[in-house]
Amino acid sequence: MSSALLKRFKSRRPSHLPESDCARDTSKPPVTARQRCWRYIKPMFDFWQSLLAALERIVMLPSLIHSVFPSLAARKRMRDGAVRTYDRTMDDLLRELQRLFETPLEPEKLLHMSGKLQEQFAPKLQVSDICMLPSYNDKLPTGLEQGTYLALDVGGSTFRVAVVELNGKKPAAKSMRIVTMKSYKIDDAVRHLRGTAFFEWMAEKIETSISDPQVKKVNGTTSFGMGLAWSFPVEQTSIRSGNLLAMGKGFRATEGTLGQDLSELIMAQCRKRNLPVHMESIVNDASATLLSRAYEDPATRFAVILGTGFNIAAHLPVSALASSKYKGYPQKWLDEASHVLVNTELSMFGKNVFPTTRWDESLNENHVRPDFQPFEHMISGRYMGELVRLVIVEAVSTAGLFSGELPAKFQEPYSLETGTIAAIEMDSSKNFTQAIALFQSKHPLSRPPTYSDISFVRKASQLVSHRAAAYLASGIHSLWSLRIQSEGLAPQDAGRLAIGCNGSVIEKYPLFRELCQSHLNELTMASGAQPNLISLEVAVESAIFGAAVAVCCLDA
Ligand code: GLC
Repeated sequence: MSSALLKRFKSRRPSHLPESDCARDTSKPPVTARQRCWRYIKPMFDFWQSLLAALERIVMLPSLIHSVFPSLAARKRMRDGAVRTYDRTMDDLLRELQRLFETPLEPEKLLHMSGKLQEQFAPKLQVSDICMLPSYNDKLPTGLEQGTYLALDVGGSTFRVAVVELNGKKPAAKSMRIVTMKSYKIDDAVRHLRGTAFFEWMAEKIETSISDPQVKKVNGTTSFGMGLAWSFPVEQTSIRSGNLLAMGKGFRATEGTLGQDLSELIMAQCRKRNLPVHMESIVNDASATLLSRAYEDPATRFAVILGTGFNIAAHLPVSALASSKYKGYPQKWLDEASHVLVNTELSMFGKNVFPTTRWDESLNENHVRPDFQPFEHMISGRYMGELVRLVIVEAVSTAGLFSGELPAKFQEPYSLETGTIAAIEMDSSKNFTQAIALFQSKHPLSRPPTYSDISFVRKASQLVSHRAAAYLASGIHSLWSLRIQSEGLAPQDAGRLAIGCNGSVIEKYPLFRELCQSHLNELTMASGAQPNLISLEVAVESAIFGAAVAVCCLDA
């Protein structure tokens, strides 16, 4: 992706805002002489208003200022015809949003953040049992491995059980194929199952899946070797086992089981049901994505998961992590392995690295686990909609968005889904008709949003999602720098590197991957690397494929 996209994106910045947030609103009556005059004096008015705002901040006496100069606040007609006074205009708010969200995205600032992240990595590469977690997977697949495997994928909202066929480079066959797959919804009731009850639920679903005649046909009567992709951190104790770590995402399975062996927790329940299965491999879902993409593209060294959750897996030299991180590893492994697949849990980094806005701070303060995953809070699908909701709530009450009417559900945290803002961004039509209809169907107002209302929502979403794409680029750059340094390479000597990408945001959010790629190109070149060195590649169904590839790597 050339920098043309970034340029296009930068040029759409709302720097030439219309004189009034109602300027293009066809629902308003024609311009009167008084309004024309208002347009003339508005720049002066804006000047005095911003001066006052600055004074307000300095003297901390907002009420006094407003009572002395009441006419200087923004006035707006409400839906019921009454005129209400607001603290500022929509244009002012948009300008502030633009400043807060876009100023940090200059390449030198993103590079600085990448450097800061690397400083945060240093102690965690020495000791930490929650991030920079090494696995026992040292080699990547060659892409020639073949076989049929039972793959399990425990995600944030689904548990999937599939029979996966790996065909290597067999002519006229897809390299990876899902023969059959069953998907089970993980709703709140399942998410709240405590301790072993969750693993009992998993075993019941495995039983249902393998009793399918198509699955039986594949394996006959022999025991099925399973590969598990786990979308939570796990402290690996071997290729097929690992200790359960805090799960997040609202799961309670760790209550009473924290630190126990994940493989054994699942297998104990499978044995109770006499299921002909055994655990062959456990990998984090980001590592599974890396393995699955590496099976098809040998240049793959990283994988990004960005959907509801966020994580990056990296194939790093063993020496990138301190020897204390390999406690309990067999001597043979230590003697032979040159590289290791690392689950970075990158979502947990970034506190005091990425500049935050008041909306980020409000999100964090009201979070069940404040500061646990600061990076994830700024970029993942669980939070982008929430950030935009917080901006909208403020815009309604302080600048008269939607003529001052807050959609009923907007009081509730997380009521604005990231899918909704993605669809609003996707509507690039002249009148935003679809975006307006969608917003009105999801969040009814007494009258549908006007063009200028939806245009504000759309711009706010673009600012939030563009910032997310840029911060992701800086996170990737920080890991790339770590990798080349531990390989002893200078940036100009670094070779091509592919990144497997999976998850709704990175795969489907409009322009997200393209923007991230553009920033990444800018950052790597600014560090002295060859152009277009790193490519973000979509890895479809990578968790389930990766779970199978992890097993096939053992067979090789
Ligand atoms: C969360 C988990 C991590 C997982 C990611 C993507 O951030 O901590 O282990 O890989 O979500 O599912």
